[in-house]
Amino acid sequence: MTSERWAPDSWRQKPVQQVPDYPDAAGLAAVETQLAGFPPLVFAGEARKLKRALAKVAAGDSFLLQGGDCAESFAEHSADNIRDFFRAFLQMAVVLTFAGASPVVKLGRIAGQFAKPRSSPTETVDGVELPIYRGDIVNDNAATPEARRPDPRRQIEAYRQSAATLNLLRAFATGGYANLDNVDRWMLGFSQDSAQSSRYRELADRISETLAFMRAIGIDPELHPEMRTTDFYTSHEALLLGYEQAMTRVDSTSGEPYATSGHMVWIGDRTRQPDGAHVEYARGIRNPIGLKCGPSLTPDGLLELADILDPDREPGRLTLICRFGASKVTETMPGLVRAMKREGRVPVWSCDPMHGNTIKAGNGYKTRPFDQIVGEIRAFFAVHQAEGTHAGGLHLEMTGKNVTECTGGARPVTDLDLGDRYHTFCDPRLNADQALEIAFMTAELIKRERVARTALLPAAAE
Ligand code: PEP
Ligand code: CO
Repeated sequence: MTSERWAPDSWRQKPVQQVPDYPDAAGLAAVETQLAGFPPLVFAGEARKLKRALAKVAAGDSFLLQGGDCAESFAEHSADNIRDFFRAFLQMAVVLTFAGASPVVKLGRIAGQFAKPRSSPTETVDGVELPIYRGDIVNDNAATPEARRPDPRRQIEAYRQSAATLNLLRAFATGGYANLDNVDRWMLGFSQDSAQSSRYRELADRISETLAFMRAIGIDPELHPEMRTTDFYTSHEALLLGYEQAMTRVDSTSGEPYATSGHMVWIGDRTRQPDGAHVEYARGIRNPIGLKCGPSLTPDGLLELADILDPDREPGRLTLICRFGASKVTETMPGLVRAMKREGRVPVWSCDPMHGNTIKAGNGYKTRPFDQIVGEIRAFFAVHQAEGTHAGGLHLEMTGKNVTECTGGARPVTDLDLGDRYHTFCDPRLNADQALEIAFMTAELIKRERVARTALLPAAAE
């Protein structure tokens, strides 16, 4: 465990992975200074509120839904895209809340999810070796040397896009759009009838009936803010540490440092070295922290990271985002769950069924088979049931659009369809229908977990 002093820039003394090679060092320093003077995007009090909500998830009383693009892009920044995402996300949350009968913490991968870790620093296109695309906050996706040159001014652009996105999300969450009375208005997103849309319509009708019943017996939903507004939080991978450092602020009420680029930030599977820069940065900020757990993480390695990132065992501080691949969950996860239990640690256990299930289709498209995604979620719930721990959350790459990026689903996308609407800048996302289907299926698993837990409770004393 490290006892060295932490500062927002102490990560600079540590080995760092995944850093872009900025040719203009003076330009980079100037941008970081400028960012450090900008207003925070989120506030420390909001991050603390999210931590309290996550503490309830860890304790088994609530469920975490985290989702959004693999990578946000400058080109696709529009009110329509944000609304479509928010609508799909709210539909999922309503399904989990109502069908799963569980409170849901809503956490977008949005308003800051711009920097991408890559497996190789370069790629060869038509015989020319180019720097790899690292996300719009770093360089441009076009396959030319100019486009791929890391440009620090993109960090300012990413900040501005995050601020505008967050502004719209705050308006949606509190300004009436998220009002439960609108539950059937969120139907407008369905382009055509599908199995998921009729299931959703049925559920929306039941919610509307319940609200009418409440009014009839004298409960006015308008007087209950939880009916009219919702808490929606933001998150992204804290990968580009210069940007994160510049957005770190000392909170005036607690005197403690917070990342103000998003409510939660997470450490990626490629940058979780215990003595590395990303872990160093994350250990000092007081936000809730996510940690991606891939197949190479050992139980001892996890405990070492937990000691560094959460030495005080603070409820809600640590969310373990498991992404093993459908075939590896059953062999890999029990060891990690047991190690944390043995140490008396109670993290949020969340399932990312996307990143361990990426394959290349015959026609060259990177895709994820829906059945594998479902398989990983089912295996995740089964392990937690066997270990007596709470399957606490879902972490998805998804969009509100009708894209064709992941194969399968009730209205199946085939390998041949992948070329139709393959819009992602990075990894393949679930489309709105597929995401909703996952929500219905997960709601069943949540319900089953509750039934099993209730059956295990000792009978009340006579
Ligand atoms: C991601 O979440 O987009 C990602 C790169 O995940 P991981 O670090 O788990 O590979
Ligand atoms: Co991804």
